[in-house]
Amino acid sequence: MPLLRRLAACLAACLVLAPAAQAWGPLGHSVVAALAQRQLSPAAEAEVERLLAPDHTRSLAEVANWADQIQDDPAQAALWQQTRPDHYINFHDPHCRYVPARDCRDGRCVVAALQHYVAVLGDRRQPDVARREALKFVVHFVGDIHQPLHAGYRDDKGGNTYQVQFEGKGSNLHRVWDSGMLETRGLDWQRYAQALQTSSPVALPAPIAPLDNPYAQWAEESCRFTAEPGFYPAGHTITPAYVQAELPLADQRLREAGRRLADVLNRTL
Ligand code: ADE
Ligand code: ZN
Ligand code: ZN
Repeated sequence: MPLLRRLAACLAACLVLAPAAQAWGPLGHSVVAALAQRQLSPAAEAEVERLLAPDHTRSLAEVANWADQIQDDPAQAALWQQTRPDHYINFHDPHCRYVPARDCRDGRCVVAALQHYVAVLGDRRQPDVARREALKFVVHFVGDIHQPLHAGYRDDKGGNTYQVQFEGKGSNLHRVWDSGMLETRGLDWQRYAQALQTSSPVALPAPIAPLDNPYAQWAEESCRFTAEPGFYPAGHTITPAYVQAELPLADQRLREAGRRLADVLNRTL
């Protein structure tokens, strides 16, 4: 086979073999973490630095994708299988009301995962190794819960089974929201975070009941965005007009996630 054809075939194989994304893609998670890092209190910043020291980093952005990366590490196979359902929640009605017994059976959903890992992170009697792991899960899951399709209500696995055409190729709506739409800006995570930070300060939606479970509120907000007219694209096609209309919402969710992640860490550490 000529070299160019061989390269093209190899590239096509790599694309097919790439694992399905489980989250905002790496770009989205790193942006959320970078936005949060700049809003940490000195005490929280110091504790983050101490907890992450064995990983030779102090950067939340550098550990923001660990919860997805463990799926490729045979040594972490059990942890990955155990935490797989912690990345999302599937609501069961278009009003997006959180009913734990129905929407979070056996506590396996992103709302319960955040409750659990924030508690571990804030418990100074826990060993550092457990609190370090909890920190990485919290950074990741606060991102996921703000990705509207990680908290959808339709029977389509958060848009994973909703096929779409995007940039002339087949994709699905979940992937477009995880990564495809964000990547149209052509920015790396540092520049993306910078761009979002220099636009106006983020005003958070007002807390609603149940006030003891803000994570349920964040998931319900995400769900309601997926129920808005136009969120599911007409004709299963992601047009430039769709990106123009929906990318500002994706950016808003990244900024809200960054601000809320900082609030959680400032309160917990
Ligand atoms: N698998 C099943 N439902 C999902 C969702 N809402 N998000 C990501 N992966 C899923
Ligand atoms: Zn995830
Ligand atoms: Zn995802």
